[in-house]
This record gives sequence, structure tokens and C-alpha cells, in this order.
Amino acid sequence: MGFSTDAIHAGQEPDPTTGAISVPIYQTSTYVQEELGKHKGYEYARTQNPTRGALERCLATLDKGERGFAFASGMSAIAAVLNLLRSGDHVVSSNNMYGGTFRFFDQVMAGFGVTFTYVDTSDLDATAAAFTKATKLLYVETPTNPSMIISDLRALGALARERGALLCVDNTFMTPYFQRPIELGAHLVVYSTTKYLNGHSDMVGGAVVSADSKASARLQFLQNAVGAVPGPFDCFLVLRGLKTLAVRMDRHESNARTIADWLEKHPKVKKVFYPGLKCHPGRALHEKQSSGYGGMISFETGSIDNGAKVLRGTKVFALAESLGGVESLISHPATMTHASVPRAEREKSGLTDGLVRISVGIEDLDDLLADLDKALSVL
Ligand SMILES: Cc1ncc(COP(=O)(O)O)c(C=O)c1O
Repeated sequence: MGFSTDAIHAGQEPDPTTGAISVPIYQTSTYVQEELGKHKGYEYARTQNPTRGALERCLATLDKGERGFAFASGMSAIAAVLNLLRSGDHVVSSNNMYGGTFRFFDQVMAGFGVTFTYVDTSDLDATAAAFTKATKLLYVETPTNPSMIISDLRALGALARERGALLCVDNTFMTPYFQRPIELGAHLVVYSTTKYLNGHSDMVGGAVVSADSKASARLQFLQNAVGAVPGPFDCFLVLRGLKTLAVRMDRHESNARTIADWLEKHPKVKKVFYPGLKCHPGRALHEKQSSGYGGMISFETGSIDNGAKVLRGTKVFALAESLGGVESLISHPATMTHASVPRAEREKSGLTDGLVRISVGIEDLDDLLADLDKALSVL
């Protein structure tokens, strides 16, 4: 089936009891068993829930994976992937990624004896050189949050395979509508479903899609053993969001493309980071592995004062953390989403104090342009 048909139907057969076309919210903690050892496939809701199961099947289908696993947040999905590792294992990771992921690697996992090498994964030689005999995981975002650096997923997948490691891609920015890392060679894909997949800024959730049967078996075990599972209502909300993912992403992107072009020409904007711009160094590569550029743009205002003025000046773009909702948001990565990344590490990938990030929503384009124009006019 096509992407939108799968997004609306995959894993979501009409409810067997009533025929309900929308997957019901199975708001229950346990399931009555007929007799010892005889049940309907559901024992306890941390282990299985029909609403969560429908979401997991839908996500696995959209990403062409073998299994999907839903989690209580993007961070708990990432934690589940890192829990595949043991003390002594080594991870090669993008040096530019969501700040919370870096914080988790650096301030949680490192304490359990897992070691990390942070590298610019758009540089294949540097990435290959960062591998050691103990490397078990290559972890990347492409485009990265927030500098929009593009890494070659086919080449990284091949590199990971050659070295006996798993490639995990955080595909939150692109979604499976624009980019399917498993088709390009990744073993695991992670999402903050809080963002585009739900798309309405009304829940927090995460997911892992696996194409590796050994990892899938362990993830299923970990999901239950650790227990960071989402509630059924949140799963229902993501399922509902997924039904309109394709139309939302098209609109996010068409708005973002025009805004990125407009920002690039704006005399007060020093630099624009958007993979759809002709000047973007990763554009050709991005086009080989994705079918769209997405709705996220970062731009350089030159200083923290300028950035603060722009953040103060917008009205339609709300000043808030997060991204991927129908409403446009504006943020300051250095002090908000990436505050836990040391300055020296941040600046290596263009994450300066003057960088402003926008999540372009699906409002009317003219209102978005007028809002940015007004905010930039004070610089
Ligand atoms: C790219 C990316 N990955 C993961 C996360 C973490 O997800 P959550 O906030 O749902 O835990 C975020 C959150 O902003 C993100 O932007």
C-alpha cells in the first residue's frame, strides 16, 4: 500500500468486538484470564496493550521495519536502544544532535561504563576512524538538530555492518514520510513521537522501529522489564496524528521552503541552515536519501542579543521548546534544547549563541512571513 493508506490503516483493523473504525483506547491495567495459562494474548498492560500494539504495527509498517516499540518519550526510546549495550561497549555518535540525547549519553550512560566518541558523521573517514574493537553502536541524526548537517545513511549502514555494529538513526525531523533509514541500511530508527508523528503538541512519546531480529527480541524484553511504556490515550493520539502525517508534512515543507528562501535573502540574517537551499553543502546527498526537506530551519542572527530580539518579536511563532506540531515555534538552541552541550562542542557544528531555530507550522504562509519580517525588522 502507499504511505498514506498505510498511515491510516496499517495495524488498525476494525475493533473485533464492535467494529469501531478507530482503534479504541484500551484504558486498562490488566486482562481477565479464562483459567491458568489461558488468555487472549494480553496479561498485563505494561507488557501488552491493544492500542499500543496498533500503533507499534503501524510504525513498523511505515518505516519498513520488522517490529515497532512505543515508549513514554523520545528519550525513553533512545534509552531502550542504549540499554542494548553493556559496560565496556563503545558508541560512535554524531557530535551534533538533540541536546537531551547528548546529556543522556554523557551524564547517564557513561556512568555505566559505556564509552562514546563524538564525531562529525558527515565525514565518513573520521567516522570510520572513530570505531574501535568495542564499538557496538553508530548513532546519528540526519539532518542534525539544529545545524542540519547531512550524513550518508547508506555509507554509514555499510560501515556499521562491516564493523559488526548497529546503526541507529534518530529520524524525528524527517519522519518516515520523507526518509526511511531502514531502507538505506539502518538497523534501528528512533523517534520522539511528541513531534511530527503526533503533530499536535498534545502529548509526549517515543518509538523505536527495528529491522534486526536480535535487537527486536531484546527491545521487547526491555520495554517490559524497564517499563517506560506510553499510556493507551497517548498511543491513540499518535495513531490519530499519523493519519494526517503526509498532508501535514507536505504543508510544513512547502511553508518552510518559502521561508528558508526568504530568510536567505534577508539582509539581517547571516546564514540559513535548511537542506532544501541550493547553498546547503549536504543538499545533493540529502536528496539521494530523502524525498523532502522537512519543516525545520535554523538561522544565524549574529549574537545572543539579536537572537533574543527575534525571539521576543514573533507572535505567531511561539517561543517554546519542541517542534513538529501544527503550530509554528521559535527557540534558542544554545540556551534551551542544547543547554547541556558544552560551548566548545556546540560551536564545532555551528551551534552558536546567535542561532535561532524555527519549527515551521502549517498556518497560512503569509502570516508566518509577516511575523518573521516584523521580528527581524528590529535588528
Ligand atoms: C531529534 C530529537 N530526538 C529526541 C528528542 C527527545 O524526545 P522527547 O522530548 O519526546 O523525550 C527530541 C526532543 O526534542 C528531539 O528533538
